[in-house]
Amino acid sequence: MLGVQTDTLVGMSTRLTKAVIPAAGLGTRFLPATKAMPKEMLPVVDKPAIQYVVEEAVAAGLTDVLMITGRNKNALENHFDRVGELEATLEAKGDTERLKKVEYSTSLADMHYVRQGDPLGLGHAVLRAHMHVGREPFAVLLGDDIIDPGNPLLSRMIDVHEQRDASVVALLEVDPAQAHLYGVATVESTDEDDVVRITDLVEKPAPGTAPSNLAIIGRYVLKPQIFDVLRETQPGKGGEIQLTDALLELASGPHHGGVYGVVFRGRRFDTGDRLDYIKSIVQLAVERDDLGPDLRRWLRDFAPTLKD
Ligand code: G1P
Repeated sequence: MLGVQTDTLVGMSTRLTKAVIPAAGLGTRFLPATKAMPKEMLPVVDKPAIQYVVEEAVAAGLTDVLMITGRNKNALENHFDRVGELEATLEAKGDTERLKKVEYSTSLADMHYVRQGDPLGLGHAVLRAHMHVGREPFAVLLGDDIIDPGNPLLSRMIDVHEQRDASVVALLEVDPAQAHLYGVATVESTDEDDVVRITDLVEKPAPGTAPSNLAIIGRYVLKPQIFDVLRETQPGKGGEIQLTDALLELASGPHHGGVYGVVFRGRRFDTGDRLDYIKSIVQLAVERDDLGPDLRRWLRDFAPTLKD
């Protein structure tokens, strides 16, 4: 009897609880701002970029967050931890609104950290999550992308993973001139409008050679078999162990259920690029109740004064 129950449980897909957030990058595009501060802590309006990503994971039901960090990343741990002195000061002042904001980032999720050690690529960073994740499916969220907080992309990906028992990536149609900046997918359609089956993947194809304009954006729902594949994955583009190469193996290997893509049609903010970072802040701020009205008014006055 017990044996039957156990088999049934093993056969069932487990609802995801774990999110892995690689955050070991050096952030050289933002120097000197990132000389002594992790790029993930750069504010997007008044919240560090990383908090949007953790909030997105939590909104999709993922309450266990593992960050893959490196040297100079202590501020990340501090941000998601209590700051007794600050909390006491705000409490003494009766500033409950700010106190709530400070406490919120502490209570968001169950946070864990592991260091990447050698910077051997995104695939290597994900492999560092193996001990923590074990044999469960899990999500990977890259910190440079912020998905419109109102959009349920990650929940949709988790649903597709559960329905198809497969790994799932988020795909975005990009300007073909930009495709060389991404992992690019060749796909075939399925019976669902927003879901495609991946038949081929190439990491950052040379300009002009991309097989499509469907780019992987930084959201993945992965079966634990990815760890077995990553362990065998040889350095690829840029001499790094590429998650894209391991996904191609999952997509084409016979035993892993394939890889599907959810085609994302919502808004995504790229905070990894300086110009897009500035645009992200403006777009998110104009929609806020506290800052939006004044900022919109100012932008309307300011824009006509601009000369080429
Ligand atoms: C990584 C992945 C790439 C993906 C991109 C999304 O590249 O390797 O396949 O398209 O994230 O942001 P990175 O931007 O870290 O170089």
